Amino acid sequence: MIISSIAFLSLLVFSQAASPCCSNPCQNAGVCVTIGYDHYECDCTRTGYYGENCTTPQFLTWLKVTLKPTPNTVHYILTHFKGIWNIINNIPFLQNTIMGYVLTSRSHLIDSPPTYNSHYGYKSWEAYSNLSYYTRSLPPVGKDCPTPMGVKGKKELPNASMIVERFLLRRTFIPDPQGTNMMFAFFAQHFTHQFFKTDTKRGAAFTKGLGHGVDLNHVYGESLDRQHKLRLKKDGKLKYQILNGEVYPPTVKDTEVEMMYPPHVPEHLRFAVGHEVFGLVPGLMMYATIWLREHNRVCDVIAQEHPEWDDERLFQTARLILIGETIKIVIEDYVQHLSGYHFKLTFDPQLLFNQRFQYQNRIAAEFNTLYHWHPLLPDTFQINKREYNFQQFLYNNSVILEHGISQMVESFTKQIAGRVSGGRNVPAAVFRVAVASIEQSREMRYQSLNEYRKRFTLKPYESFEELTGEKEMSAELESLYGDIDAMELYPGLLVEKPRPGAIFGETMVELGAPFSLKGLMGNAICSPEYWKPSTFGGRVGFEIVNSASLQKLICSNTKDCPFTSFHVLKSKPTETATINVSSNSALEDVNPALLLKERSSEL
Ligand code: HEM
Ligand SMILES: *[C@@H]1O[C@H](CO)[C@@H](O)[C@H](O)[C@H]1NC(C)=O
Ligand SMILES: *[C@@H]1O[C@H](CO)[C@@H](O)[C@H](O)[C@H]1NC(C)=O
Ligand SMILES: *[C@@H]1O[C@H](CO)[C@@H](O)[C@H](O)[C@H]1NC(C)=O
Ligand SMILES: *[C@@H]1O[C@H](CO)[C@@H](O)[C@H](O)[C@H]1NC(C)=O
Repeated sequence: MIISSIAFLSLLVFSQAASPCCSNPCQNAGVCVTIGYDHYECDCTRTGYYGENCTTPQFLTWLKVTLKPTPNTVHYILTHFKGIWNIINNIPFLQNTIMGYVLTSRSHLIDSPPTYNSHYGYKSWEAYSNLSYYTRSLPPVGKDCPTPMGVKGKKELPNASMIVERFLLRRTFIPDPQGTNMMFAFFAQHFTHQFFKTDTKRGAAFTKGLGHGVDLNHVYGESLDRQHKLRLKKDGKLKYQILNGEVYPPTVKDTEVEMMYPPHVPEHLRFAVGHEVFGLVPGLMMYATIWLREHNRVCDVIAQEHPEWDDERLFQTARLILIGETIKIVIEDYVQHLSGYHFKLTFDPQLLFNQRFQYQNRIAAEFNTLYHWHPLLPDTFQINKREYNFQQFLYNNSVILEHGISQMVESFTKQIAGRVSGGRNVPAAVFRVAVASIEQSREMRYQSLNEYRKRFTLKPYESFEELTGEKEMSAELESLYGDIDAMELYPGLLVEKPRPGAIFGETMVELGAPFSLKGLMGNAICSPEYWKPSTFGGRVGFEIVNSASLQKLICSNTKDCPFTSFHVLKSKPTETATINVSSNSALEDVNPALLLKERSSEL
């Protein structure tokens, strides 16, 4: 009797303890479904594989996998052989074919329509339809699993503050070998905060960014009410004020929109823009000011073409143009810089018109987590011979008025940012942000780094040494996590060995690029019905989109058109760029970035 009840009890405990899906038995994106308490089935439909665990490739899959070069090989080819790429870049057929391939091969890794979220590890209408959630690329680890990573590793994960202290915190500033500058860092923060807007009141699984993509809510406001308060209601423009003879955002008092400022900030420095938190960093407010000026400038251009249009139509058309400009700049300047490719990336929605591609997007929680690029931040911010520490810089809009936008652009273009991967480069000022990234990942029950690598068709790491490429941190990590298959995603991304001469390791790029390109090209304006001149107010507006660049954005909206770029220059920039903004082809010709020798040799 006693024996049988012990047997019964242990059976109960055993069968309820661990779902058989906890061990992630299904490979190659097969879907694990439990059958009763201790059986499972892998759904291998359309994975290209079959068998109990979706491990046997169909012939065509086998052929593809065998012929496909590894991501590191592809990366090597794209970042070397500059001479050959220069030829390919000038043969439109080849350039288009390769660009089309880049876009489709990356975006096919993203489920669209989206599937899971942090509360639903199986498909459900609730997960699909509730836009308040970030979606998930991989379902959360089941709550009944024996360890936080499923079955691998220890019962408890190491203390998050300790992980940050030992592996992520900066000892001395490590500059990015790709030469990324602060112009890039603040663009990254400004641009991504339109779709990474965690609803902290609800928790890390939730977002306030219901547009799930590039909708420029950070310029125009998330709600219609906020938008109307920010609008001038004349000529399509946004409200503004003139200070020192230049255009700046209006104040909170002028607009009655809410902004997050600490109590000590005086009224005249409480600038009001689309995103509530952009008062946090003058770098964010700098970009907010530039985009505000750009909106009002575009309104003037469109109004000249269409004196018959009312305020509403001018506003709406300018917004679409600015969305287009943003995507153009992000692909051709921002991603181009980050990639380090000699292959020229181009923004051309037509490349996808004969592909199967969904014009929709849902921001994933994992995309947000991997974008916590705080190692970009320097120890101090340098603007025109003044040096600000974090305490002097944050929530200090008088920095902007003291220097003006031109001088800020000039200085941020010259200041190098930190390397992101490779470990130990997060500045102490954002220590708590790094801890929060880890704690939120745990709260959302993220799967392991290796499960994410498999999800994005990368080979799982076999050891900590293979992950970091060194011995000291890897030995310590091994003793803390116990098993490479239990290594967490976020700290994994930040300690990963960077690619030679690069800002990121393999995982950051191979996970980040699919989310990024899907989000950019999945925008409604890239769809066949939208992507035509009439959507943008005619040829003139369409041309603004198709000729947009970072340099042009700056020159059109600052008084002395400082030279700019997303990377520092090896040799000193040639003073101020003399760029004729009204002529697009002239811009290409005199852009000093093109004249200066590229940093190709050491990359
Ligand atoms: C002075 C500069 C910066 C400061 C003080 C700062 C601070 C913060 C803080 C306090 C959070 C919220 C953390 C939490 O969830 O509790 C955050 C989130 C975040 N930061 Fe930064 N950050 C800075 C620069 C950057 C830069 C340059 C990037 C570049 C990409 C970046 C990317 C992000 C992202 C993606 C989030 C998540 C946003 C969300 O989920 O709502 N940050 N940062
Ligand atoms: C499938 O995976 C399970 C659990 O990892 C393993 O026990 C089983 O042998 C695998 N089946 C095949 C056919 O490889
Ligand atoms: C989305 O889900 C959350 C959490 O269950 C809930 O509070 C919220 O009301 C849902 N939103 C909608 C629009 O149903
Ligand atoms: C982690 O360690 C820090 C001290 O290093 C401590 O303050 C904190 O409470 C610990 N957190 C947990 C969850 O144990
Ligand atoms: C804010 O910036 C201004 C302008 O450069 C500077 O004079 C001031 O000291 C800064 N404020 C704080 C609190 O550091």
